[in-house]
Amino acid sequence: MNSCKYLILASGTGSNAEALMKTAKENNINVCGLFSDKSNAEVLTKAKKYEVKTFTTEEKDNKDEIFFKLSQVIEELKPDWLLLAGFMRILPTKILQRFFDEELQQYRVINIHPSLLPKYPGLGGYRQAYENGDTSTGLSIHFVDEGLDTGKLILQKSFSIAESKNLEEVIEKGKSFENKYFPEILLKIHNGNKKDLLNELSF
Ligand code: GAR
Repeated sequence: MNSCKYLILASGTGSNAEALMKTAKENNINVCGLFSDKSNAEVLTKAKKYEVKTFTTEEKDNKDEIFFKLSQVIEELKPDWLLLAGFMRILPTKILQRFFDEELQQYRVINIHPSLLPKYPGLGGYRQAYENGDTSTGLSIHFVDEGLDTGKLILQKSFSIAESKNLEEVIEKGKSFENKYFPEILLKIHNGNKKDLLNELSF
């Protein structure tokens, strides 16, 4: 059996997870599972379409139960990397530590976030930018650490929202960039260039 390289974590619609799974399929990259903390998340259907094994929790599960189940999945699959594609929880240190990479001095855990960090950490990055009347916003891809969206930045991409008519348009624009750049990072790692992630990347 091929060793497990990437486990995706996702909570919602799954446009980023789908972009990752599509790129993985086209490039023979071993995405060996998708874990969702929401048992009815749309992303689970998308994973099935790409024949990626899914793992989920039950609606009644509390935070500890969710992370216990995630730990079990990690023990079973032994992935090298976690890719957080719209995963709306902060990972406990105990899980992060399992992914510490000596060479990178980082956890092999990557998140995509809808703002130009350090601006707007947490939820609703695009919404906050839009409601505050910002003329531009952007996305960040970063290593995950113990904080809330505080890990080392890998890539940022800004775009104008001055002409956007409503929040939906901002989100749509943002996600189209997210869906383009997250797979680029996956390809970088897959092609053996993980150390490039430590430098500021431009595509
Ligand atoms: C994306 O915009 C992602 O950046 C954001 O959730 C959305 C998920 O969309 N992530 C966070 O806010 C993490 N705190 P998707 O389910 O279509 O990929």
